[in-house]
Amino acid sequence: MYQMKYYACRLLRAATLFFSFYLLLNLLVACGGSDSTVAPITDDSNDVDEGFIWPEVRSAVNDDVDIDIAIILDSMTLEEKVGQMVMPEIKSISADEVRDYHLGAILNGGGSWPNRNKNSSVADWVSLADDYYLASIDTTGGRTAVPVLWGTDAVHGHNNVKGATIFPHNIGLGAANNPGLMRQIGEATALEVAVTGIDWVFAPTLAVVRNDRWGRTYEGYSEDPEIVKAYAGEIVAGLQGDGFSGELFNDAHVLATAKHFIGDGGTDDGDDQGNTVVTEQELHDIHAQGYFSALDAGAQTVMASYSSWNGSKLHGDEYLLTTVLKEKMGFDGFVLGDWNGHAQVPDCSNDSCAKSFNAGVDMMMVPDDWQAFIENTLLQVRDGVIPMERVDDAVTRILRVKMRAGAFDANKPSDRTYANNTSLIASAEHKALARQAVRESLVLLKNKNAILPLNPASKVLVAGASADNIARQCGGWTVTWQGSGLSNNDFPQATSILSGIESAVNAAGGTVEYNVPGLFNQTLPPDVAIVVFGEAPYAEYNGDLTNIEYQSGVKSDLELLNRLKAQNIPVVSVFLSGRPLWVNKELNASNAFVAAWLPGSEGAGIADLLFTDVSGAINYDFSGKLSFSWPEQADQQLLNRNDDIYLPLFSYGFGLSYQDVDTLGDDLDETRKEIALGGIVSVPGIIEAENFTAMNGIDVELTSDEGEGENIGFIDAGDWWEYTLDINSAGSYNIEYRLASYSGSAGFNLLLDGVQIASQTVTETGSWQSWVTITGEEILDLPAGEHTLRVNAVGGGFNFNWIKLELTGN
Ligand code: BGC
Ligand code: BGC
Repeated sequence: MYQMKYYACRLLRAATLFFSFYLLLNLLVACGGSDSTVAPITDDSNDVDEGFIWPEVRSAVNDDVDIDIAIILDSMTLEEKVGQMVMPEIKSISADEVRDYHLGAILNGGGSWPNRNKNSSVADWVSLADDYYLASIDTTGGRTAVPVLWGTDAVHGHNNVKGATIFPHNIGLGAANNPGLMRQIGEATALEVAVTGIDWVFAPTLAVVRNDRWGRTYEGYSEDPEIVKAYAGEIVAGLQGDGFSGELFNDAHVLATAKHFIGDGGTDDGDDQGNTVVTEQELHDIHAQGYFSALDAGAQTVMASYSSWNGSKLHGDEYLLTTVLKEKMGFDGFVLGDWNGHAQVPDCSNDSCAKSFNAGVDMMMVPDDWQAFIENTLLQVRDGVIPMERVDDAVTRILRVKMRAGAFDANKPSDRTYANNTSLIASAEHKALARQAVRESLVLLKNKNAILPLNPASKVLVAGASADNIARQCGGWTVTWQGSGLSNNDFPQATSILSGIESAVNAAGGTVEYNVPGLFNQTLPPDVAIVVFGEAPYAEYNGDLTNIEYQSGVKSDLELLNRLKAQNIPVVSVFLSGRPLWVNKELNASNAFVAAWLPGSEGAGIADLLFTDVSGAINYDFSGKLSFSWPEQADQQLLNRNDDIYLPLFSYGFGLSYQDVDTLGDDLDETRKEIALGGIVSVPGIIEAENFTAMNGIDVELTSDEGEGENIGFIDAGDWWEYTLDINSAGSYNIEYRLASYSGSAGFNLLLDGVQIASQTVTETGSWQSWVTITGEEILDLPAGEHTLRVNAVGGGFNFNWIKLELTGN
């Protein structure tokens, strides 16, 4: 697996005292770090620019409630304050404990339900919400009454609740490119959440997803900030209500969370919870754009990301959480930690993390170890490790949000306007909205000879493992965390893709035969086969891939498509996936190919587009456009709009409609590109970068440099690669390097058979593809014969195209 990233940031050491101090601190912290999963702090620590401008939030939710809060704060004991700053999980906390420990909030994690029962009814949810709420406002013994908030991951509808409307995952919504629809989906989701007595959702996810290997790719709307920014404010306004309509935080609305702040979609290699290596400018231009509109729309909470920024874990990054978000941008709501996210900060553990509070997290998500965590935090405050002003600031923020959201004036959950109104869960209106979202999210990638739309009065074979499998339509974060372990019985509200096809075809007098492996009974072959296949559900790191080839090494679906093709049956492929994948072979084997993403509970939305009406007129045309570039090769996991070199199979924004003539054909290149290992390189001469015989951490990419070919890129400090040289004559050699670097680098050393013979720093050349030839300072004495030349990267952030070795005097 290659260490990859999409923008390297290797900032030159700033010679300021401040920075040296910061670096020293980081190093000390890293040395004492107890968590081995934490990326080591190398000399890549952030050279933060105090002068960098971040836009000020102009929040639509800005009522000044601070006078009222100050009064409450004044009456609170330290125990009551610290309790507000902690969020346990419902499996590990009783209502009595919420009262006794003064907890500020609770959550149900992915696949966690009242009484640990997946089949919990709406009444069960509401009654548990009542228990927690009533305990929190109990004033016995002089306790301060502060209503507890219940938060949940309603990330595509109220997805932990059996029977709720499940909207397409965000990747599909991105393809719909319809901000207005986001507001409606936000409203519908908020209403279903309100029915269950819950106050707050951990959505929207505003990740700008740069590497499609990432297991959370489908949680992002796009690889590009444009759509993310256009959507973020709309979904927040839909969830929370907006002030203009007088609906802000009324009983039909809930609190929203902008997550995961910041750079979650930009990690090296697409590793979940990994390290995002970018400059502050790139953080701002790419990863922050969604936050700008979400916070302007009034999002009151921000969840910190598990990931790091240039080696610094976000949960401990004071510059980003406090200086940037709270001070420069002026965000006055509160920052929530992610699930034990604080434990990944150096020196922290699940049950203790002063550093995270001090960096700016106001409320820590401590699912299980909350009790020890509270005890430790109390000690840390008493010892002055966490300053009292920090505690007061955090609690002020939490109370401010609760007050603005109306929590202090609210009735108990069961007495709220929509509580227990089960007719609103998967109501006809919400189902219609979800079905519309499905229609708008489908992207038509191939339609050879205009085989689509189909005549519904046909003889249709439906095949594929995803055709009648609603869990597969929904993906992760559905009823269970991974979306696994479910059957169609867990979706009483839903329609499968098969049932949608059956309704359309049966109504027109056609016939449907369903057989997963595509074996049909009739003597006459079907007019058409619709094959529904794709990824099985996953969530978070479980979805991380090593390469983006679909069914790498398995290919059972390709076999099915080819078998049908060999029988001259036209094949319409409906592909369910949480990301673009390399499917050249599957495309070649299909007459039409639809990227359907993870459409959710309204599978019937697919048939809406595949078939004409009975009279042969188009029902609905395809309007979905890719919000993620589609790869032409299995190694193009890093493929994004506006890349310097951009060679997708289907560009960002691509999507056929029935008016378009498709010219794709059936001859896409089916060879899967591997990184070729070079042979023996003859010296004197040029060593082309890509001719390495071994490497660690690097990757090759096409170069726009003279002579073209490939360059080595995605270099991090510690990466290396080797060449096998055949040196024709011993002697003194001059050396030249062909290099490019976005922002300069500490460079590399050269070793011959393990002995260092040269070293080179790299100055900024302007861009990743602005190449310069640099003459090395050393004259090298090389022996004749076969030898190993190794390049050890001391810094990252440079690109490498060739080395030239020439005998001196030539
Ligand atoms: C890599 C470079 C690469 C560039 C392409 C950067 O993140 O480090 O090697 O050329 O992305 O955009
Ligand atoms: C995820 C968050 C989620 C939280 C609570 C974490 O694992 O990263 O997105 O909100 O769990 O379920």
